[in-house]
Amino acid sequence: MVSFRLPRRLALLAILIPAFGLAPAHALGHKKAEQAGANLFRDKGCPYCHGVNTEGTKKGPALLDLRKTKKAAEITKQIVDGGRKMPAFGDDIPKDQIAQIVAWLRAKHRPAPTPLPANAQPAPQPKPQN
Ligand code: HEC
Repeated sequence: MVSFRLPRRLALLAILIPAFGLAPAHALGHKKAEQAGANLFRDKGCPYCHGVNTEGTKKGPALLDLRKTKKAAEITKQIVDGGRKMPAFGDDIPKDQIAQIVAWLRAKHRPAPTPLPANAQPAPQPKPQN
């Protein structure tokens, strides 16, 4: 009976390996994190000060070249602790989500946020700190 069961297991493996084993898990995870970060940046109110395309506004600087100018740890600290005129988000945004925002900010090719559903609420507009 072994000769019957073994091929079936092999057949199962033949299905499972392409589905899970060979997927570039790391690359996939990174892309997903960047995509999640794009949405979080929009949904957590960052564009209110930094602009929808991170081009900057009167309230906050552009965040265009962070990949070249800032380390991930520095960006993380800015988001968690805030700054002189930037509110701290450490209490509002869980760590893993902050990591996703940082991944997006540092991405070579930042993915656009996925479109909001038609009935979505507008993003919160935090008050500037003085
Ligand atoms: C109320 C306005 C405001 C909001 C909202 C805001 N920021 Fe800022 N942000 C600033 C200002 C102003 C600075 C410049 C440094 C400072 O004053 O802290 C800054 C600086 C930064 C920096 C450092 C830029 C650099 O070149 O050093 C990063 C990164 C950043 N913000 C990310 C975010 C993210 C991500 C969000 C949303 C979770 C966010 N900010 C929301 C105002 C804001």
